[in-house]
Amino acid sequence: MAGRSEGLSLESLWDAPEPMRDAVDRRGGLLPPPLAARFPGDLMIDLRAERPTVVANFVTSLDGVVAMGPGEVGAGGAEISGSSESDRFMMALLRGLADVVVIGAGTLRAGRRHVWTSAHVQPAFADAFASWRRDLGLTPQPTTIVVTASGNLDVAHAGLNAPGVPVIVATTKAGANRLAMLPVSSNVRVEVVGDGERVPAGALLEIVRGTGARVALCEGGPHLFGELLRARIVDELFLTVAPQVAGRDAAVHRLALVEGTSFGKGSGRWANLASVRRAGDDLFLRYRFEP
Ligand SMILES: NC(=O)c1ccc[n+]([C@@H]2O[C@H](COP(=O)([O-])OP(=O)(O)OC[C@H]3O[C@@H](n4cnc5c(N)ncnc54)[C@H](OP(=O)(O)O)[C@@H]3O)[C@@H](O)[C@H]2O)c1
Repeated sequence: MAGRSEGLSLESLWDAPEPMRDAVDRRGGLLPPPLAARFPGDLMIDLRAERPTVVANFVTSLDGVVAMGPGEVGAGGAEISGSSESDRFMMALLRGLADVVVIGAGTLRAGRRHVWTSAHVQPAFADAFASWRRDLGLTPQPTTIVVTASGNLDVAHAGLNAPGVPVIVATTKAGANRLAMLPVSSNVRVEVVGDGERVPAGALLEIVRGTGARVALCEGGPHLFGELLRARIVDELFLTVAPQVAGRDAAVHRLALVEGTSFGKGSGRWANLASVRRAGDDLFLRYRFEP
């Protein structure tokens, strides 16, 4: 499956009509030529006035599996997407528009050599992404924010040591104490968030806001995403549907894991479909959550 959907354009199938609303600030627009050849049309993200906009990006199998189990061989996202090159292109585009990429420690641990930049997933387009970010007035690379309660991180992980990629580890007091004993790279800043055993979603958003970010991209995993959803701070979901039945227990491998409770009042979080694209057998769905 290596390189599945290689070089295919993410063809636009459907866009929701623009809702009537007051003028909003936006980031993005038509893409520069080398990127537009793969992604015709525009890509824009609404910028919220009162807080950073939070968008999430996941790939799911047909049976709703987004993650192999902890400790399973091949726990990274490539096993879900079948190493889809078009999915990596979508991932690179969203990283290209983001000020920060927020991940949970489980996601960091699953991809030991991963770096959360566009260039890492699309090296052939590294220059195009760099110049797009310059044109948009963004920093050269998004800041990686890793959320961990335990502080149990491999400080030699590529994603914590990439030149020019600032990293913030948002953690608890206990997590910070653990990290203080380790040789953490100089581009990593450890921030203690709150005084509990978890990092509250609202406090995490304050860390994001403190960096001056307007767009935060959450790349999971399911535990972190579940907490952000429950806190009602996710604005959009970009969801790639990969054409495989993964055959895992969807209860423990599904998109959003909200421990111990549902979203409340017996209902889920509803969203509106914003656009549909396809590249070969991959489907690229964009949803906007209802406020
Ligand atoms: N299909 C996809 O698109 C996709 C995307 C992302 C990830 N994944 C997969 O998802 C799997 C990992 O799943 P996961 O749910 O364990 O991932 P996760 O949410 O990235 O990691 C969970 C861990 O993150 C930390 N964490 C999350 N929220 C926290 C909070 N509010 N406060 C403090 N710490 C918090 C904790 O770390 P500590 O244990 O260090 O305290 C927790 O154990 C991997 O196999 C990965 O490949 C798939």
